[in-house]
Amino acid sequence: MGSYNFCIAVLVMFNLSFMGISTSLNPYFYAKVCPQALPTIKQVVGAAVKQERRVGASLLRLHFHDCFVNGCDASILLDSTSAFTSEKNALPNANSARGFEVIDRIKYEVDKVCGWPVVSCADILAVAARDSVVALGGPSWEVQLGRRDSTTASESKANNDIPSPFMDLPELINSFKKQGLNVKDLVALSGGHTLGLSQCRLFKNRIYNETNIDPNFAHQGRATCPPNGGDSKLAPLDPSPASFDTNYFSNLVSKKGLLHSDQALYNGGQTDYLVKTYSKNYGAFSKDFASSMIKMGNIKPLTGKRGQIRLDCKKVN
Ligand code: HEM
Ligand SMILES: *[C@@H]1O[C@H](CO)[C@@H](O)[C@H](O)[C@H]1NC(C)=O
Repeated sequence: MGSYNFCIAVLVMFNLSFMGISTSLNPYFYAKVCPQALPTIKQVVGAAVKQERRVGASLLRLHFHDCFVNGCDASILLDSTSAFTSEKNALPNANSARGFEVIDRIKYEVDKVCGWPVVSCADILAVAARDSVVALGGPSWEVQLGRRDSTTASESKANNDIPSPFMDLPELINSFKKQGLNVKDLVALSGGHTLGLSQCRLFKNRIYNETNIDPNFAHQGRATCPPNGGDSKLAPLDPSPASFDTNYFSNLVSKKGLLHSDQALYNGGQTDYLVKTYSKNYGAFSKDFASSMIKMGNIKPLTGKRGQIRLDCKKVN
């Protein structure tokens, strides 16, 4: 940035903050305007996770799939309109992304407790992801707030920018790099797969055809996942899919990664050492996971007067 542009940027930021419009996120965004917002989100997430443990995993994934497509702007929540097709139809989300009803319930309860719609759907996704991790035994962190909601969505960007489970390490690194996330963020955040389940169709080729896999693990997998059909049958991404722990990483070290992209992180490449470290050190994993979640949550937020606070997370106002 030239010094002239820099001066302009500083002036714009000064003016916006003078007008009471924030241009960056902060953890206290709703502290004055609705102090009950965050406790309410925590309560609804807690009740939902108690009813179905997996929904915590699903909510964590929704925030990831939101942030990787044009930033954390709740674009993933929008249904199709005449102007765009929903990101819910994109390959990584169709018949896969879930937890939308919990987001709608949170939005309803938060708007009720606040008395008016002040909390964005994008912030709800970020806080629900944190509260889900906490509910399943993982670390907590201070969620940065003040994101606003998009007025559009992009199915094609969702197809292009959300990484695929068939990627190798260089492609995964590249996909995260495009979001401003580094190799450590990639490995730490992939640790999200300490939670939740995957459908057969996404790991079938791995358990039938790949060689960097523990033979007993492959054998077990084939029992739940037949070579033909059964594509939506489910298997856990690690042996303890409802607990945030290091089993995902120790599993990779023993060649028991479920997805091709999981095992790619421990396959003789540059990320082996990080996987090994996290497999033995819960403290290091949980600390790095929390900082990378904050970093992911900061991807291209809409702030100030950009975007809107949706009344219904599924629809543009
Ligand atoms: C590194 C690239 C990644 C790839 C290729 C990937 C791919 C996948 C796939 C294929 C599934 C199974 C979906 C299904 O069966 O319908 C899945 C599930 C999941 N992913 Fe990822 N993922 C990645 C990174 C992440 C990140 C960064 C997070 C969060 C921090 C995350 C959180 C989850 C969770 C929690 C589930 C389970 C969801 C549930 O049970 O509903 N993933 N992922
Ligand atoms: C295994 O690989 C072969 C050859 O690429 C392919 O035709 C087949 O569909 C694969 N099997 C599974 C279960 O994915």
